[in-house]
Amino acid sequence: MLLKNKKILIMGIRNKWSIAFGIAKTAYDNGAKLIFTYMGEENKGKIEELISEFKGSKAYVLDGASEDELVKETFTKIKEENGKVDGIVHAIAHANTEDLHNDFIYTSKEGFSHANDVSAYSFVLAARMAKELDMLNENASLVTLTYHGSTKVLEGYNVMGIAKAALESSVRYLAENLGKDGIRVNTVSAGPIKTLSAKGIKDFSSILTVVEEKAPLHRNVTTIQVGNVVTFLLSGMSEAITGQVIYADSGYNIMGI
Ligand SMILES: NC(=O)c1ccc[n+]([C@@H]2O[C@H](COP(=O)([O-])OP(=O)(O)OC[C@H]3O[C@@H](n4cnc5c(N)ncnc54)[C@H](O)[C@@H]3O)[C@@H](O)[C@H]2O)c1
Repeated sequence: MLLKNKKILIMGIRNKWSIAFGIAKTAYDNGAKLIFTYMGEENKGKIEELISEFKGSKAYVLDGASEDELVKETFTKIKEENGKVDGIVHAIAHANTEDLHNDFIYTSKEGFSHANDVSAYSFVLAARMAKELDMLNENASLVTLTYHGSTKVLEGYNVMGIAKAALESSVRYLAENLGKDGIRVNTVSAGPIKTLSAKGIKDFSSILTVVEEKAPLHRNVTTIQVGNVVTFLLSGMSEAITGQVIYADSGYNIMGI
């Protein structure tokens, strides 16, 4: 029970295929009390049904994780109703479909800003808002999700690779800023998983096949396996780790060709 008596805020649950859902399962099984944010007021019923297996959990709508005022409003409500939290998991990203389908060179200014706003700035905003609203308990841990396309060129990942590079760099700067308060900040670089977001990437199935062929473990990862790594990073077992990109990808990233 790595997270016994810990309250964890998980941002970005959408459905049972979401990485956020796998993380919720592992965190809950390790004793955590869960709070969620999700997108779309119209999804309220569906999300409440989805999280009903996590006894005592609550979900709050957040229609714009990169909007300062919306995050302030939602986090204020979360703190009022739940008190401080011991960890925040950020599992949010988005890029415009055309920017994932065209060659990267054609990324528009709006598409470039959008991907970086939603996928990288939103994490900086969550960290800052949590600090300013005094939402974080001592030794709190913040974790976000990234992908290997931040450092290597993967056809079809395009502007999302740039956003993930910004996110990983933000993790290092945030780790330095928040380290003074004993708060840790890390990111898990998950291997490819078939989620709704992943469906936006061209030929996603062929990426899964290549991982099976080439990764040292010759298998793809599951949301539960990623959740286990995130749970470790949320827990006191990882108290010596901050500012890191931890790969949970069956070892794929170490391979040359
Ligand atoms: N699936 C993969 O292969 C993979 C691999 C590595 C990292 N990741 C990362 O994992 C995270 C979770 O993605 P997932 O694959 O579970 O997909 P998902 O579609 O289940 O989750 C993405 C979430 O982002 C939310 N979101 C998008 N735009 C938003 C906005 N403006 N405001 C608030 N919320 C918004 C969606 O509502 C959704 O809940 C993302 O950061 C993704 O880049 C995914």
